[in-house]
Amino acid sequence: MSTNLKDLLRTADLSKADIELLLDTAAKFAKNPLRSKKALAKKTVAIYMTKSSTRTRLASETAVAHLGGTPIFLRGDELQIGRGETISDTAKIISGFCSALIVRTFAQSDVDELGKYASVPVINALTDDDHPTQLLADWLTIRENFGKDIKNRKFVYVGDGNNVANAWLIMGATMGAHTVVATPAGKWAPKTAIVEHANKIAQKSGAKIEVLTDVRVAATGASVIYTDVWMSMGDSESDRAEKMSALKPFMVTPELMSLTATDCIFMHCLPAHRGEEVSAEVIDGPRSVVWRQAFHRRTTIQALLYHLTKGDLKGNV
Ligand code: CP
Ligand code: NVA
Repeated sequence: MSTNLKDLLRTADLSKADIELLLDTAAKFAKNPLRSKKALAKKTVAIYMTKSSTRTRLASETAVAHLGGTPIFLRGDELQIGRGETISDTAKIISGFCSALIVRTFAQSDVDELGKYASVPVINALTDDDHPTQLLADWLTIRENFGKDIKNRKFVYVGDGNNVANAWLIMGATMGAHTVVATPAGKWAPKTAIVEHANKIAQKSGAKIEVLTDVRVAATGASVIYTDVWMSMGDSESDRAEKMSALKPFMVTPELMSLTATDCIFMHCLPAHRGEEVSAEVIDGPRSVVWRQAFHRRTTIQALLYHLTKGDLKGNV
């Protein structure tokens, strides 16, 4: 084992080769969930969450079980960390009992600190800034629909410039894709640092990055239209009315979908709010791949646990 990637703390940690390996393995786990049923035998994986989750928790617990291990779910308010124990002490204790830590919380810096002090792999299962495991499921779903040749295809995210939008930009840049994010200007646009980072990756990968405010220009000719909730976990309720009104033109409707390529798919990480970011006709319609996308949360987290605990990923060094 060389100096390989220990943790998946952010989407940008993964190289294209790492992503290809993870997607190949996940595709195998999709066909046969129990093909590596002893990989984590007699081992435990901690899943620590301070935010709600349906898919990521189910996918993570199921993935660990399919690898022969035991998941231990830890709620933030039940740990001593909620009473002031330090992140570094918590990371050391978890490392003494578990073979990996999957964590969902608010601050990216908390996940970074867990990664620094844990001797076992730490996986970011969503922060305010990023959602790397989601993007693995998304790109496996994209690959199932379009294959590996993504030339002349446009991958478009519309809506709030949130954690998923950030991850969309970075993942698309790494994959060498024509990656578009369309959001309202200003407060709900992706941060400059993220766009600069995506452009830096794109210079090497050959990706084309576009950050737009015109949703119709973005959607025209798209192969994927992706959206996410307008109010993320942790967003300030005092912003709700202003945010809903700014985002209204970004709702994915049949009319917006009519501007896309004929084989365009609709994607959403879920949970969805029908009538806000997407109309029911689109998310429940024939172009929607959201259920397959959700299915791949398990296959990709399973692949990630499998390879990360074996030290197979090289990272972006
Ligand atoms: N997509 C996703 O992360 O869903 P959950 O919040 O339900 O885990
Ligand atoms: N942007 C959303 C994603 C949920 C999976 C949130 O952070 O709440």
